[in-house]
Amino acid sequence: MKRFQLSYLLSFLCAMTAFSAHASDAHKVVAKGDAARGQAIASTVCVACHGPDGNSPLAVNPKLAGQHAEYLLKQMMNFKTPEGKQPERVSAIMNGMIAAYDEGQMRDLSAYFAAQTQKGEAATNKATVELGQKLYRAGDQAKGLPACAACHGPAGAGMPAQYPRIGGQFAEYTEAQLKGFREGSRANDPNKMMRMVAIKMTDAEIKAVSDYIAGLH
Ligand code: HEC
Ligand code: HEC
Repeated sequence: MKRFQLSYLLSFLCAMTAFSAHASDAHKVVAKGDAARGQAIASTVCVACHGPDGNSPLAVNPKLAGQHAEYLLKQMMNFKTPEGKQPERVSAIMNGMIAAYDEGQMRDLSAYFAAQTQKGEAATNKATVELGQKLYRAGDQAKGLPACAACHGPAGAGMPAQYPRIGGQFAEYTEAQLKGFREGSRANDPNKMMRMVAIKMTDAEIKAVSDYIAGLH
């Protein structure tokens, strides 16, 4: 009898959690970001480093213009520092910058930056462009390095919701992120997808592919 009651209680609890998870999913779908509200924050705060429309003037600050909203939101959530815990993505600057905003505001910001048009960079190193392109399009089968294009698309536009746009980004930023994934200082990639890629790359390959990606639009 006791056992029966317990299993009944458990299945009831499971049904309740399933229901509430479902209900909050529905809430998320309804809560689309408002780009105009996002612009109000972007033009007073984020503008200092990311430019008025997410086309950052300096290479240390990544371009946000035209990035997928889902990816932007995920990064902002990952920069948040839960009380007493390490943030999922560590950045001395962004961990502080994002602290003031709640999920609704982060959605608004994501909607705003996603709706802007990226001004892409260009590849600058003729000597490595061929290697960069080969790695991007085909990877390196001999060492099990997958093609970047498989996840980020042939033109670097990414695939929402999971795979970010990387084409046109500053080479310096791309290089720093790849090294971060390789060393594990950036570890917020689902299923270690990027850490498993970057660990197979040499410095020279990272440099070549980052330069190639800057010119990929
Ligand atoms: C003082 C400069 C500065 C300000 C102001 C700033 N950022 Fe950033 N942001 C950075 C830097 C630097 C990085 C790269 C962090 C890293 O290397 O991991 C970054 C990264 C990001 C990323 C991740 C981009 C990617 O491609 O993964 C997002 C999203 C972002 N910022 C959003 C914002 C928003 C929204 C605001 C305004 C509320 C803002 N930032 C204000 C400097 C800044
Ligand atoms: C198996 C799929 C997969 C492959 C293959 C892959 N990536 Fe990624 N990449 C991802 C995912 C997923 C993310 C987003 C991680 C996150 O959520 O923070 C990402 C993120 C990135 C970022 C960070 C973007 C930003 O704005 O901060 C860079 C740079 C990047 N990838 C470059 C590459 C390069 C270069 C290659 C090829 C050498 C490659 N990726 C291959 C899945 C992949």
